[in-house]
Amino acid sequence: MSAPKEAPPRRSPLAVVDFDHIEFYVGNAKQAAHFYRTAFGFDLVAYCGPETGVRDRVSYALQHDAIRLVVTGALTADHPIAEHVRRHGDGARAVAFRSTDVTADFEQAVARGARAVSEPVTLADAQGAAQVAEIAAYGDTIHRFVGRDGYAGAFLPGFEPRAVKAPQTGFLHRIDHVVANVGWNEMETWVKFYEDIFGFFQFRHFDEKDISTEYTALRSKVMASPSLAIKLPINEPAEGKKRSQIEEYVDFYGSPGVQHVAIATPNIIQAVAQLRANGVELQSVPASYYDTVAERVGDIAEDLSALRDLNILIDRDDQGYLLQIFTKPLQDRPTVFFEIIQRKGSESFGKGNFKALFEAIESDQAARGTL
Ligand code: FE2
Repeated sequence: MSAPKEAPPRRSPLAVVDFDHIEFYVGNAKQAAHFYRTAFGFDLVAYCGPETGVRDRVSYALQHDAIRLVVTGALTADHPIAEHVRRHGDGARAVAFRSTDVTADFEQAVARGARAVSEPVTLADAQGAAQVAEIAAYGDTIHRFVGRDGYAGAFLPGFEPRAVKAPQTGFLHRIDHVVANVGWNEMETWVKFYEDIFGFFQFRHFDEKDISTEYTALRSKVMASPSLAIKLPINEPAEGKKRSQIEEYVDFYGSPGVQHVAIATPNIIQAVAQLRANGVELQSVPASYYDTVAERVGDIAEDLSALRDLNILIDRDDQGYLLQIFTKPLQDRPTVFFEIIQRKGSESFGKGNFKALFEAIESDQAARGTL
């Protein structure tokens, strides 16, 4: 890992300030919404579908503190959403950013070389007005600019409010980072995309010396907005003894796409205990991981035995430490998953845990016969 190559620019040419939401295209939005509600504690806050005058699809907007997820399914076989699901399985279609000037951001992005997907539109209802525009990113993934400063409704105009509380909530907080997996030798193309289009800077990078196990290897660069509110790691496969897990992802997903969404929690011990009680499948590491962790990370505020019981990983850098765990894939294909992360001063990504985590992923890969 290396420090940033250059000082952050003073400001991005775009007015994006944070993540806004992630939209998944799924085979069955009703069941997906139920899964995210009961397993991950998202409230259902808004809905659109035939009952609200939308004829071709259904969307459920879910919220857990500052995290918004939308799950969307097609109602007809020939719909582009159905084609997306046929090609990729359930997956992240849109990584949306909140913007204070959607039209200017869209025009700037296109002028800087982004491919337009949908022109800026203003959507309005009794709760106010919001702006939306979209540009293409890696694979079939898009970035959506959302301007919601003038909107007081539950999600966006066109959705009807729903107030269905999750059984338990309050243990997750915000989107910390969203990771892309791209193909062989494509990482630099996307690094340049976020530099040129968004004015983001290279916050960290990791090579195969940092991220390799006996079998698999990958490279990663982390692009970040000047404020660090938006962090976008980009992974590409590297040569190893066996197939890189990044290559496995791209093969199953059918293209580059979102590998994981990292969700920050204020209390990872409480969050992971709740997720386990809710039946969420989580990656585990060998018990031997904890034999050496105390000397590697030094003093931490949490009870190490509680972390070990829940299989939570710990890493430290010169600014502090972090606690993290990965879920297993969230759908049938071994593609997108969540990371749960609690930062205690560290802004890094758990480099010291990569080997343990990737070995856990590899043992699943071997069980699928794709290592
Ligand atoms: Fe991550």
